Amino acid sequence: MAADQPAWWTSAVVYQIYPRSFMDSDGDGIGDLGGVLARLDHLTDLGVDVLWLSPVYPSPQADNGYDISDYQDIDPLFGSLTQLDELIAALHARGMKLLMDLVVNHTSDEHPWFVESRSSRTSPKRDWYWWRPPRPGMAAGDPGAEPTNWQSHFSGPTWTLDPESGEYYLHLFDRKQPDLNWENPEVRQAVYAMMRWWLDRGVDGFRMDVINMISKDVAADGHLHDGPPIPGTSLGDGSGSFLNGPRIHEFLAEMHREVFAERNGGLLTVGEMPGVTVEEARLFTDPARAEVDMVFQFEHVGLDHGASKWDLRPLKMRDLKASFGRWQAGLADVGWNSLYWDNHDQPRAVSRFGDDSPAFRRNSATCLATLLHLHRGTPYVYQGQEIGMANHPFRTLDDFADVESLNHYVHAVSAGEDAEHVLVALRRMSRDNGRTPVQWDASPSAGFTTGTPWLPVNPDHLEWNAERQRTDDTSVLAHYRRLIALRHEEPVVALGAFAMLLPDHDEVYAFSRSLNDDALLVACNLGRRPQPLFELLPQAKDASLVLGNLPIDEAAVLAPWEARVLRLR
Ligand code: GLC
Repeated sequence: MAADQPAWWTSAVVYQIYPRSFMDSDGDGIGDLGGVLARLDHLTDLGVDVLWLSPVYPSPQADNGYDISDYQDIDPLFGSLTQLDELIAALHARGMKLLMDLVVNHTSDEHPWFVESRSSRTSPKRDWYWWRPPRPGMAAGDPGAEPTNWQSHFSGPTWTLDPESGEYYLHLFDRKQPDLNWENPEVRQAVYAMMRWWLDRGVDGFRMDVINMISKDVAADGHLHDGPPIPGTSLGDGSGSFLNGPRIHEFLAEMHREVFAERNGGLLTVGEMPGVTVEEARLFTDPARAEVDMVFQFEHVGLDHGASKWDLRPLKMRDLKASFGRWQAGLADVGWNSLYWDNHDQPRAVSRFGDDSPAFRRNSATCLATLLHLHRGTPYVYQGQEIGMANHPFRTLDDFADVESLNHYVHAVSAGEDAEHVLVALRRMSRDNGRTPVQWDASPSAGFTTGTPWLPVNPDHLEWNAERQRTDDTSVLAHYRRLIALRHEEPVVALGAFAMLLPDHDEVYAFSRSLNDDALLVACNLGRRPQPLFELLPQAKDASLVLGNLPIDEAAVLAPWEARVLRLR
């Protein structure tokens, strides 16, 4: 990135809405576009620049809208195209932009493209999806007859048999989410045309769902390769065949040419890329290559995983620093980082990276926010994070709704795992933690709905809600407002070079940012013990406070979960 012409999004902050859980305007217990329109003042008040809206398209809702049956309409559950147009106009009038979710690795199995593709082996759209015969020498439906041994992200095999035609179709996620075949140029052109249609309507860009999975490693004869066996299962890890596949850069560059190149700036693209490495991300986000503006990488949200996300490991702060530090260094001279703690697929940040016990919840939520927002990159705020929302006290299996969680439970228990042990992991890691309704006020359904919420409201909304925090200058919400303003006001926050300090310290996360002759020192205490700031970072003695998350009792000491942003002289 040339420092003399920074892209607009270097000083922008994005806010993610998961519409189902944001605000319900019609009393059916499910959030909708009317609800988003009704709560726009909340976004203006925070000061965010961009709204990323998770999917609102027509969908059977097998994966809450990440299974799309029509790319060019709005599901009546969420409202109408007229309301979407209203939202675009309302955001633009407030100086904000709208990012739509682009889910094109797969469609719903109820999308007319798949219905047509499935209708016969000779359908003109047969090749729009990945259809394959059973493994050679085996009959359709035999155990292990799937064309490859790949394990789905949502448990079980990635192949489902279509009994009518005797062939299997590929789905890296749920069986209701068949993968599109990007090798077929007609598929690509159909997707690009759809994207142009949305941009013509006024949307300002896309968050691209699992976009580094669209290119599969397929042999010239159409053969797909087995992956290494996953211990304890009959399945294998196929990621070598579909993460950052052989044609991924070609496809993204083509998409850029076909969809974005002729349009003026002001748009934004962010690719969700599980398993992406720093080296790959440099290529994806190098402006000279014209692929995407930034990517979501997954390293830091995997640090507490063992063999899978359900295999819990304690998180080591030192690992977190090492990981963020490498991403900051790796994308310093080329490319750009996106910064996030959580989203609709992750547990709540304050419960996972912070300390959600009553004594430390507010301080750890604001400390984590300060740490993230002071990095170089574009920060993403996930709905509710700005008021310190925490994980839900789920009890039994019946409390969960998410397809990933429920599939995992069924597979794990039928494979002999102890049911209570599986539940312990679900409570900590289930995506439902991030999906409970936004807590607007202390009323029975937290001001989210007049009906029965589709997922229970967290009982802690009596204390933790937006209304209560709005006028409290010490609240998490007020702190987010200040952080977002800081990025807008201070070029050093948006563009300054990042240098990690104290890389081996277990509890203090510190770094500097510098731009021309301006320099900031950021020091965050990620623990419950006070830390000797001036001893650890003597340069802090002469520095002046730009922003902190706590009143300072003793300048020389960082209190538990205290964060300070200091200007060096
Ligand atoms: C992405 C989405 C997630 C979804 C999956 C399949 O990871 O963020 O919610 O389940 O892709 O579309």
